[in-house]
Amino acid sequence: MKFFVDTADTAEIKSLAASGLLDGVTTNPSLIAKSGRKILEVVAEICGIVEGPVSAEVAAMDYDGMMREAAVLRKIAANVAVKLPLTPDGLRACKALSGEGVMTNVTLCFSAPQALLAAKAGATFVSPFIGRLDDIGQDGVELIADIMTIYRNYPALKTEVLAASVRHPVHLLAVAKLGAHVATLPPAVLRMLYQHPLTDKGLAAFMADWAKTGQTIA
Ligand code: E4P
Repeated sequence: MKFFVDTADTAEIKSLAASGLLDGVTTNPSLIAKSGRKILEVVAEICGIVEGPVSAEVAAMDYDGMMREAAVLRKIAANVAVKLPLTPDGLRACKALSGEGVMTNVTLCFSAPQALLAAKAGATFVSPFIGRLDDIGQDGVELIADIMTIYRNYPALKTEVLAASVRHPVHLLAVAKLGAHVATLPPAVLRMLYQHPLTDKGLAAFMADWAKTGQTIA
């Protein structure tokens, strides 16, 4: 399973990339706004930190505008995935860009039929937002289950399911059990994955016993 981080904060990305376990980055207009930086500059910097896909989202609402913006975004670096909204124009742009071999990420997916459309449009990734579904009393993880079932029924569909709007490690566990190809995690959630109180307790005990031996490893 690939782990992406969902942020445009380059200090966070550098720190998490140092683990060697980070496979990509997702951004969106809200995350770019939060960074306080220009999209082209910040995405270029992220693409220099991470080798894997870096999603950068168009802001246009119409097909021609999306294609114009996609032309600018894809020039930033070879690892840019153009992020497009799950609208008729977004899927039309996805189909055109996929045909040109451009990586695409269809975002704001909230239903299995929408995910089927994204796959038919040749999306590299589809991003179902599980936390936002939970927020309105629907089951976000169930949506991932439905999409995985449908995609497995049609092996010709090559789109990867990118679980987005992940709020906690339990979400990650659930979507990993379902075989989601990718999860994009906020930095804090990614850091939580390392943590277990028994790891801390066990390590403290080992270190205390080790100190008693007076040894060094050299
Ligand atoms: C995904 O690409 C989105 O940027 C993101 O996961 C949305 O998450 P949120 O619902 O926490 O804003």
